[in-house]
Amino acid sequence: TNVQQGFPKDFLWGGATAANQLEGAYNVDGKGLSSADMIAYIPKEERGITNHAMEVSSERIAQILSGEFEARFPKRDGIDFYHRYKEDIALFAEMGFKVFRLSIHWSRIFPNGYDEQPNEAGLQFYDNVFDELRKYNIEPLVTLSHYETPLGLTEKYNGWVNREVVDHFARYAETVFTRYKDKVKYWLTFNEINVLTISAFTGGGVVIDREENKLQAMYQALHHQFVASSIATKLCHEIIPGSQIGCMLARMETYPFSSNPADIRQAQHDNQMNLFFTDVHARGEYPRFMNRYFAENNIVIQKEAGDDEILKKYTVDYISFSYYMSITVTTGADGDKAAGNLFGGVKNPYLEASDWGWQIDPIGLRVTLNNFYDRYQKPLFIVENGLGAFDKVEEDGSIHDTYRIEYLRKHIEQMREAIADGVELMGYTSWGPIDLVSMSTSEMSKRYGFIYVDQDDDGNGTLKRSKKDSFEWYKNVIATNGAEL
Ligand code: BG6
Repeated sequence: TNVQQGFPKDFLWGGATAANQLEGAYNVDGKGLSSADMIAYIPKEERGITNHAMEVSSERIAQILSGEFEARFPKRDGIDFYHRYKEDIALFAEMGFKVFRLSIHWSRIFPNGYDEQPNEAGLQFYDNVFDELRKYNIEPLVTLSHYETPLGLTEKYNGWVNREVVDHFARYAETVFTRYKDKVKYWLTFNEINVLTISAFTGGGVVIDREENKLQAMYQALHHQFVASSIATKLCHEIIPGSQIGCMLARMETYPFSSNPADIRQAQHDNQMNLFFTDVHARGEYPRFMNRYFAENNIVIQKEAGDDEILKKYTVDYISFSYYMSITVTTGADGDKAAGNLFGGVKNPYLEASDWGWQIDPIGLRVTLNNFYDRYQKPLFIVENGLGAFDKVEEDGSIHDTYRIEYLRKHIEQMREAIADGVELMGYTSWGPIDLVSMSTSEMSKRYGFIYVDQDDDGNGTLKRSKKDSFEWYKNVIATNGAEL
């Protein structure tokens, strides 16, 4: 039969990270500040456990820069991967990783974002990391921009809302493609590009209180990222023959709460609003349903001559996405609000939720994969998936994270099903193979790793690495190419 049984033999198993959540060394070797470095830790007692902290006001930025506002900024410290990458990569290699997803912290390379010349020490750091990965035959999968806009671009242009940033990004992309052309084959442009329309600061270095028409500003910034992504795609193909470059979406498969047609329509609408981003990346044009949304919200995208052609000509090679949960929506009053990865929704009575209220839905991953493939017929790559949970260290130092194994097993099973359904899936990098700082809450206690890192929410700890039970489990998954789960 021509039904693919199990995982293809060149399937890319691994783990995914972002520079700002693990490197630390935020002001070392010439690195400039980035948006992530400005996010302070707010304890859950003040924030509410399921709430996020991802925005910064103009006033706060001024206070931080003048030293008037004192707080901890966990993303400045990460887990000190900057100095411990050899040890960490050795552990990934021990698990048998075929691929490791990381981002380049843009402000290591161009400290202000608009500098003319790159910072050599920053470039050298990633050379070292890529060389270390090469030792173990681990392919790097590199995200150009993972919530790490240089603060200089925020201060000078208010971030991505200004067209100038496209050129600065293009220079950065060209610099790293040229430098790493023999070391990196797989690239991604913007992490979860849709997050820009939820948090303009995190997604685009845009301080939203500086903008009068906020939605207009967000979608304009987004347009600039779309164009920048296409330019990067063009450059990547020119500079690195045989390279593959993709886009990245926080995919929120959205279900209707009931069979009420109004709910069905609501879910359809929400899915369109989420898939619009990959529509542009994959098909090279804005989908027509966005015209109505733009008109009803007084959004007029300013395009430059040639933008439409660039978008059309340089579409992505593959589509990557994060998948943590599904969303359920209703037009009625039924259902409690469920906490989600920024996207809300109501409680789905068939699903359990994580400690942070994210609704766990393995079958939703199969649905997602099939829907994506039906829509675009492009290869897919799951570049984030995982369970953020509290872990308990036993007396003897062991960590029995059966809940994590369970979560991952069920999702990988559904990937296998989707592959048998005919979906082309390139690989799977689970989020945070080593515990790192949470994106949305800056906590350490929201852990995703196979590798435990001794550090708490207040930044105390030895940073010592140790293996959780899931470490051996994932190692065996990779060794058996997903046959033993
Ligand atoms: C994705 C981001 O939204 O989810 C990651 O790309 C992030 O940066 C991950 O860490 C998990 O979210 P959180 O908030 O639990 O860290």
